[in-house]
Amino acid sequence: MRTLTFQRVTFTMGLPVLKRAIQEQVEKTRNFVSRSLVIGEVLSIADMATGVKCGVIYWLFGGAVRNLGGPAHITQWLQPLQEQKYTGMFAMTERGHGSNVRGIQTEATFDFSAQEFVIDTPCKNAEKMYIGNAMYGNYAAVFAQLIINGRSQGPHCFIVPVRDENGRLYPGVTVVDMMHKEGLHGVDNGILRFDSVRIPRENLLDKFGSVSPDGQYHSPIKDKSARFNAMLAALTPSRLAVTFQAMGSMKLGLTIAIRYSHSRRQFGPKAREEVKIIEHQTQTLRLMPHLATALALTFASRYAGTLLDEDVFRGKELVNSRPLQALVAGLKAFSTWANVSCLQDCRECTGGVVVVRELLAQYTKQCEERPVSSLLWNWAESGSDRLRTSFLAFNMDTVGNLTFLLKAVHFRERILQRGLVARIYYKVMTEKEDFFRAWNSCLHHITCLSLAHIHRVTLEQFCLAVRNCPDQEDQALLKKFCLLYGTKLMFQERAWYLEHKYLTPMTSMRIRRQLLHLCDAVKDDALRVISAFNISHASLHAPIAGIATPKAAWVLYPAPQHSLAGERARSPRPKLGAKL
Ligand SMILES: *[C@@H]1O[C@H](CO)[C@@H](O)[C@H](O)[C@H]1NC(C)=O
Ligand SMILES: *[C@@H]1O[C@H](CO)[C@@H](O)[C@H](O)[C@H]1NC(C)=O
Ligand SMILES: *[C@@H]1O[C@H](CO)[C@@H](O)[C@H](O)[C@H]1NC(C)=O
Repeated sequence: MRTLTFQRVTFTMGLPVLKRAIQEQVEKTRNFVSRSLVIGEVLSIADMATGVKCGVIYWLFGGAVRNLGGPAHITQWLQPLQEQKYTGMFAMTERGHGSNVRGIQTEATFDFSAQEFVIDTPCKNAEKMYIGNAMYGNYAAVFAQLIINGRSQGPHCFIVPVRDENGRLYPGVTVVDMMHKEGLHGVDNGILRFDSVRIPRENLLDKFGSVSPDGQYHSPIKDKSARFNAMLAALTPSRLAVTFQAMGSMKLGLTIAIRYSHSRRQFGPKAREEVKIIEHQTQTLRLMPHLATALALTFASRYAGTLLDEDVFRGKELVNSRPLQALVAGLKAFSTWANVSCLQDCRECTGGVVVVRELLAQYTKQCEERPVSSLLWNWAESGSDRLRTSFLAFNMDTVGNLTFLLKAVHFRERILQRGLVARIYYKVMTEKEDFFRAWNSCLHHITCLSLAHIHRVTLEQFCLAVRNCPDQEDQALLKKFCLLYGTKLMFQERAWYLEHKYLTPMTSMRIRRQLLHLCDAVKDDALRVISAFNISHASLHAPIAGIATPKAAWVLYPAPQHSLAGERARSPRPKLGAKL
């Protein structure tokens, strides 16, 4: 997969349209940012691994050169990148520092006599991690603390040679393969370590800070913190590229799912042709909002792209545009979440909706055997008990009481059940609709009821387990989690409870506070619970990292010594033990 992806990257980047895009970057042609972003979207749709790898080489490495380097760097590095003389990688993230780039520990120490920087990885936490193209790339854009005369000027970006054109690593550079990247096997991620790797002074990308031959540091931005923000801001276009990739995946998934839903048939009115699955209410409810989101994202991210174009065109280069940075960072988070939930729904709803299908089959069968009316009334009977008492439950003092939470989930299930019966009865008996159509128009209601039912049963069983727990200490611990589970269920459905006046706005806010409080309160107990899962060491490490050899697994996930050991020392292993 990696070899194939590498060939695809080489092929793709040789296409005239892409060579032109890089040329436009070099020449800063008007609107070049927007245009490259759209190319990135299309590439990701064609093949995500190719899109990601091109992104690493051209957006991240190339972007660092273009946005952090001076004019000489752009000529020296971007031109040969376009001609595919070499490929690059982007080494910012460290084992101990993901988002907090300010805290990175890799060092670039200026050696005055040699006119060189010496790049070092001083400790394990400073290793560059999850670096894309690490197994192939020739040069890395490395973020490191710039140290002159023992004093750090903060993080700067340096071009560091990693391997020659034949793929041989340079002395002092160590690369560890992080192996399979699930879903993206064509992308090679690795860990980088540097041991006194020497680079010429000119390899510092010096738009925001330079070192003269006599070791003087100069920067157009005096304030250290402002300078650092300017550097990060310069990388904003690369961040927006991720949104375009996420959008590309959404569009691809939606195209497959919607076409399929319009052609595949399943279930239908008795003795007639089955209907297309797009006719099922739950199908449209799951797919259409994602499609609308994909459209909204398209327009919003293009808008952000034009703002970047204008900034770059006016030479402002993002230094002062914090609202634009906030917009791009927000879009990145929102679009990648939207992508994951969209593709998950696309997969699930083209695979057949098992629960609803089962329910439908069951009820259709029952309807053949018994008159609809008697079935519905029987059902209604079983659900109609003392509903009114539940309305008294929203006293402020009782929100933290398990009994209150149990009553609430019971109430929801019963109300949904009664409502459903009434709706179907009306449609079938009064309006003489056929049962299939009546059922279908209530599918959303039915799904809610199925879930409310499961919510009730799970909370009930949890409460029973708490009550029957033989050990007092364990019981107290389980009770907290049970309360948390019930609170989470109510919080999740709070809109429904508010609609039905089961919660007042005040109690609803109280539920939220309780949720936040409980989550915080159980965080240490969580260590006791997971150690009671008693998961063996071998299971924990190898499969999670997706790594075959135990040695490499240890490189990635060393034992969490501090917290777990500390916790063990203080409190004895819980007796709930293997039960979990
Ligand atoms: C979109 O979601 C899919 C499926 O979860 C995932 O494989 C892919 O990496 C995601 N893409 C982005 C850019 O987040
Ligand atoms: C919870 O509420 C029930 C009545 O709804 C009451 O009997 C019980 O004492 C309450 N428990 C606590 C701990 O307040
Ligand atoms: C935990 O698992 C190990 C085997 O991996 C087993 O020997 C041990 O008895 C288990 N501990 C408990 C408390 O069940």
